[in-house]
Amino acid sequence: MFDLVIKGGTLPDGTVADIAIRGDRIVTVGKVDAPAKRVVDATGDLVTPPFVDPHFHMDAVLSYGLPRVNASGTLLEGIGLWGELREIATVDEMVTRALRYCDWAVSMGLLAIRTHVDTTPDHLRGVEAMLEVKARVAPYLDLQLVAFPQDGLYRTATGRQNVIRALDMGVDVVGGIPHFERTMEEGAESLRDLARMAAERGLMWDVHCDETDDPLSRHVETMAREVTRHGLGGRAAGSHLTSMHSMDNYYVSKLLPLIAESGMTAIPNPLINITLQGRHDTFPKRRGLTRVKEMQALGITVGWGQDCVLDPWYSLGTADMLDVAFMGLHVAQMTHPAEMQRCFTMVTEHNARIMGLQDYGLTPGSVASLVVLDAGNPVEALRLRPDRLLVVSKGRVVAERQRNDCRLDLAGRPATVRRRF
Ligand code: FE2
Repeated sequence: MFDLVIKGGTLPDGTVADIAIRGDRIVTVGKVDAPAKRVVDATGDLVTPPFVDPHFHMDAVLSYGLPRVNASGTLLEGIGLWGELREIATVDEMVTRALRYCDWAVSMGLLAIRTHVDTTPDHLRGVEAMLEVKARVAPYLDLQLVAFPQDGLYRTATGRQNVIRALDMGVDVVGGIPHFERTMEEGAESLRDLARMAAERGLMWDVHCDETDDPLSRHVETMAREVTRHGLGGRAAGSHLTSMHSMDNYYVSKLLPLIAESGMTAIPNPLINITLQGRHDTFPKRRGLTRVKEMQALGITVGWGQDCVLDPWYSLGTADMLDVAFMGLHVAQMTHPAEMQRCFTMVTEHNARIMGLQDYGLTPGSVASLVVLDAGNPVEALRLRPDRLLVVSKGRVVAERQRNDCRLDLAGRPATVRRRF
């Protein structure tokens, strides 16, 4: 007797299969005739492993307008606003906002999130709040925390010490922000320092790296060198990497093989960087996205991150990783059918690889987490960003929706509109 069987769904690779679940594991993927406590008919619907977000800021989520909106729309004004907010936000407020966001995430089939947590203030209330949230959502959502020195590792008196305090409190991943240090040299030194910290503690490393329009911001080169030196490989991720959009092409022809050699991964955040970057440009106006297809052509794992929802840096957002992939597809011009399919894989499998999730996927023995979407295939899912009909986390149904078709009455001719093609 199975606990749950999802019948007749279409997997992301086009295979039609039943999925049988017992406890928190997938037992069978194929033809299932054995009885189950519950059977869900997913005929014609896409069944996918859950969405994964490898780059987020949950300590700031749902704070849009606090203490006021970002008038210039720039990264730097956003950092300034956040600097004010983090001094007045209480642990309870941050926990409440984060838990509300986690509910949104679950409803959208987003079941694993890596969030950077600002370790700049000595009170470390954000760290305290996110550790509490991580524990509370653990039964249904995997939250990974990054010790993130938002104002620089060396730019404040206690920046470095507070990263270490946060890691000692149980934060999972070492962060960094070299382009925000006082000088290029101090940025490079911060990377050497943080890479050592990650290696010595056996932790993953995720750096806000070169999130700037300055084509001479080349910290990713130093980062790749340190990843190779310490053998961190896929345990290290470069987030944003936006300066690469403006770098000299000859330099990039040397840089990309160094990144590939290191084994590190990359996390562009298209919703945020398309709005934050290029604000000082007139025309032609640069777009704030790193070189996605070019990195993938060299075998570098690239995911899509969401970064922000309703906070000092971004005034929209719905916890839908299909929105993120949809924007990334457009800005990176990934319009070939194989590239569109890959955009979907980026917000599922590739992001899971970046976060180092164990037993992820729709195979026997994997954790029984999956999403049923009102779409026929991954490309249609990107086009429609459709309803998540069913979300299963670790063997339990955690969200469920009715199919939402629109009924028309046109000059006496009733009809039903389904947006599926
Ligand atoms: Fe970020």
